[in-house]
Amino acid sequence: MTNSKQDQVLIFDTTLRDGEQSPGATMTLEEKLEIAELLDQMGVDIIEAGFPIASEGDFEAVSKIAAQAKNAVICGLSRANFMDIDRCWEAVKHAARPRIHTFIGTSPLHREYQVRMDMEEMAEQIEKTVAHARNLCDNVQWSAMDATRTEEDYLARVCEIAIKAGATTINIPDTVGYTAPRESADIIKMLLERVPGMDEVTIATHCHNDLGMATANSLAAVEAGARQIECTINGLGERAGNTALEEVVMAMRVRNDIMPYHTGIDATRLMQASRMVATVSGFPVQFNKAIVGKNAFAHESGIHQDGMLKHAGTFEIMRPEDVGLSETSLVMGKHSGRAALRAKLNDLGFELGDNQLKDVFVRFKDLADRKKEVFDEDLIALMQDSSTSAVHDRIRVKSLRVVCGTEGPQTADLTLSIDGQDMSVQETGDGPVDATFNAVQSLFPHEAKLALYQVHAVTEGTDAQATVSVRMEENGKIAMGQSADTDTVVASAKAYVNALNKLLVRREKTAPQELVG
Ligand code: KIV
Ligand code: ZN
Repeated sequence: MTNSKQDQVLIFDTTLRDGEQSPGATMTLEEKLEIAELLDQMGVDIIEAGFPIASEGDFEAVSKIAAQAKNAVICGLSRANFMDIDRCWEAVKHAARPRIHTFIGTSPLHREYQVRMDMEEMAEQIEKTVAHARNLCDNVQWSAMDATRTEEDYLARVCEIAIKAGATTINIPDTVGYTAPRESADIIKMLLERVPGMDEVTIATHCHNDLGMATANSLAAVEAGARQIECTINGLGERAGNTALEEVVMAMRVRNDIMPYHTGIDATRLMQASRMVATVSGFPVQFNKAIVGKNAFAHESGIHQDGMLKHAGTFEIMRPEDVGLSETSLVMGKHSGRAALRAKLNDLGFELGDNQLKDVFVRFKDLADRKKEVFDEDLIALMQDSSTSAVHDRIRVKSLRVVCGTEGPQTADLTLSIDGQDMSVQETGDGPVDATFNAVQSLFPHEAKLALYQVHAVTEGTDAQATVSVRMEENGKIAMGQSADTDTVVASAKAYVNALNKLLVRREKTAPQELVG
């Protein structure tokens, strides 16, 4: 059976916009370009690259992604005013296929408290702004923010106005993750019945996961007639996140018998995308996360293992390789060469340029010297160690020696390179990690507060690497730092410094919630 256009569901990825709005998930320009390139290659139809008015950095990222994209439509977000829309157009116009996305909160709460407009004023504003966007660009998406809490009559009315003003895609967001599958479908059906022209535009669904129903709500909307799902890799996004791209794509694929829709996504790139976004955002993927979690294909219990050995279909509804998971697990050691490392990393979904490989190889050798066996998980942790990836970092950990144990005080001797100059100090603290963080504070005084400190063992065994995640907050700005090392205190120091470096870069960016609300 051939796929018809009618059954095609467009995948609109907003990892770089809504995903990046997760507190602490801010990404650098290089990181955004890398993610956008992968999204483009793996068949994402529309990439929402950012919110151009939010900052110079966002504008630059959207412009560069627009210029780089080969296949995908590149979209920028803008509020319902001319200044935002003009700025958005300036950024996306470099794309072969640009889109302007403009939105306004239509629910009673948003009308009254956020935008402070009555129904009539808002209707007029929608008409003016959508028409303005359409004068600039042929491809215009309009979103009724908080649509699922908007009165039906008003939602139908404003959708009609937006379509008449030239919108080509109408998005019905469940902004606060409030709807449920049946209601999600009913809203789309109601709009298709009541709004003239609704069947001639693309209907989009954009769900948040506050009640854990984002995937189900998106798929229900598709069954009712939506043909664009807005989602993010790993479900990254504000609060409980957005619909996870990998979940909707695989659900429609695995259960195509009851959800006969198709997407253009190459599912074998899903693991690669998941790892890349986890690394860049500093948000690790929960072990039991559907599709891309570490345990998604692990079978521990005796009954399951027995069944798997007899026939994989007994307990597996999709194959690990369908989502790009390689089968091998152990493997590299200190005698492995550069070509083997490159092949192994490719297998794990990391594509490296020659310079990057050179750097990773040095770190791999260092790890292999300290650890008998280097497992896939170790290599993934090595790649996710953001503390060593940023070339422009102002602060770097040069050396660290700690004294700890039952006889206090615990002491840290730390040398940091700050703006290229080595500086050393000795500090004490309540334990070796506290002493180390005090030493960083004393060498580089800062107001930022430590909001989270987390340690995970990458593999089993006492020589396992520890991945340390650190979240720092300063005046409402948040940054995550991550590092892995066989020495937990070294990983802690590097993760802390990594978060500080990110905060320094992010000081100038406007908080997205101030823009979206
Ligand atoms: O959740 C939401 O309503 C949004 C809009 C800006 C589309 O992200
Ligand atoms: Zn959203």
